[in-house]
Amino acid sequence: MDESRGNWGSKVGLILAMAGNAVGLGNFWRFPYVAASNGGGVFMIPYFFALIVIGMPLMMVEWSIGRYGGKYGHGTMGPIMYLQAKQAMTPKKAIIVGSLSGMIAFGVTILVNSYYNQLIGWSLGYGFNSLTGGYMDSSISTGEFFASYIQNPSNLIFWIISLLVLAFAVMKGIEKGIESWAKIMMPVLYAFGIILCVRSLTLGAPVNPDWSSLKGLNFIWNPDFSQLSWGSAIAASGQIFFTLSLGMGIIQNYASYLKPDEDIITASVATISLNEFAEVILGGTAVIPIAYAFLGEEGIKGSIGLAYMALPNVFRTMTGGGIFGAVWFLLLFFAGITSAIAMYNYLVALLEEDAGINRKKGAWIVFFGYIIVGLPVALEPILTKTAELIYFTEVDNWIGNYLLIVLGLIEIVIIGWCVKDRALEEMNKGGLWKVPKWYFRLFHQFLTPITIITFLIFFTLDYAKAGNFNLVPSYVANMPSLVIWVNLGRIAVIGVLIVGYIQSYKAIKNKYKYEIDGIVEFS
Ligand code: PHE
Repeated sequence: MDESRGNWGSKVGLILAMAGNAVGLGNFWRFPYVAASNGGGVFMIPYFFALIVIGMPLMMVEWSIGRYGGKYGHGTMGPIMYLQAKQAMTPKKAIIVGSLSGMIAFGVTILVNSYYNQLIGWSLGYGFNSLTGGYMDSSISTGEFFASYIQNPSNLIFWIISLLVLAFAVMKGIEKGIESWAKIMMPVLYAFGIILCVRSLTLGAPVNPDWSSLKGLNFIWNPDFSQLSWGSAIAASGQIFFTLSLGMGIIQNYASYLKPDEDIITASVATISLNEFAEVILGGTAVIPIAYAFLGEEGIKGSIGLAYMALPNVFRTMTGGGIFGAVWFLLLFFAGITSAIAMYNYLVALLEEDAGINRKKGAWIVFFGYIIVGLPVALEPILTKTAELIYFTEVDNWIGNYLLIVLGLIEIVIIGWCVKDRALEEMNKGGLWKVPKWYFRLFHQFLTPITIITFLIFFTLDYAKAGNFNLVPSYVANMPSLVIWVNLGRIAVIGVLIVGYIQSYKAIKNKYKYEIDGIVEFS
């Protein structure tokens, strides 16, 4: 085993770091608005279906292939998937599978952060504004406050501070950096979440007798079947990928720092449980009922706006709103940081393992790289004097949604249909509980791939219907001056994917040249 890559220091630290990886803005910012705008309670049905049929089996696969890759000194998706595919096909074909997987993970870890780090910066900035009373002045709406906030270049300082926090955490390495930060931030995050839940459930009906927080709970837990649709099922599976950090390369990367016989079955179950507790219990019980109590059903459906526009409205009216506002935005900040660390580390590992650059230097390269890729998201509101965030929307449509599912499909097909029983054996190594053969056959080989393929087909049709494939997507059709930001987004996506493919191909070729060229027998 390659000791120089570093390892997790303790089991608790590892689990908290993995929970930090999964528990992110996806749980507190994305989940409430996706659930609310897809029918509330009825969304939870396809959501739990996707959790069981896609989330759980794929989580075990990602832990397992990551641990296996780590044995050979790899923490990035190109070589990790090459090693898997090679067990079932020639090295010449396996390198294509590896390069495609590496390409998607590279695209995701670079481009998701072009906006995710902005969200982290906004959370910090809004936390600060909660304490200083920044958004409390009711002469302007919270929507207007948000627009002026993102159009003000001096607020970019919160973004830079967040990036510095990430750089310093990752620079210190796995145990001393990532693990020790998770050990502090995760318990605080859960404590903040519980405080908000208690506050939420004791609110009563402060504004309108028809809007109580309990009714909000009812909205999210009591399904109205007339709202069930393919659209909500697709949104639910997209949410499962995002919230569990699947199809991104970052679960595999953290798993690559495991010892070869460490129990990954228990660890997968623990990661999922901690994430779902934060998502459906804390995210669902704190955010939705609070927003419902103050704003009613219509008020909670406002996409990106729920966290940064609707909730500030609530804090304006609530007694002690400044403090609760700060608790909410710091919770978002911690959730975001502990996830972004994982993507940051992925890229540092890539520089370390594929380009021989040391961790400290790598961390600075990623820091400046993130500033460059984040600039379009940061500058669009400032230059256009709008708050439409078109570049963000376009990049998120492709990278934060679509490609995750494609990578998940590649993984499950390779594991379930190509590597087959050898993959099951590897998964069970060191496990306190073992995955039974029937489970592997039923899920990994059958239900999971079929469900992902079905979702992907409907997802694609849905995208076509929504006009996302059009030269001018429908969501900007009435804003011609902003179309350029869509095109910039598309150029960034295509450009990063091309670079990602070449990078992964070269990395694999470099390490496994002889077997790929057929000079030595591969094993
Ligand atoms: N699971 C993470 C979340 O819920 C996904 C993520 C990780 C996104 C890292 C961006 C960066 O937020």
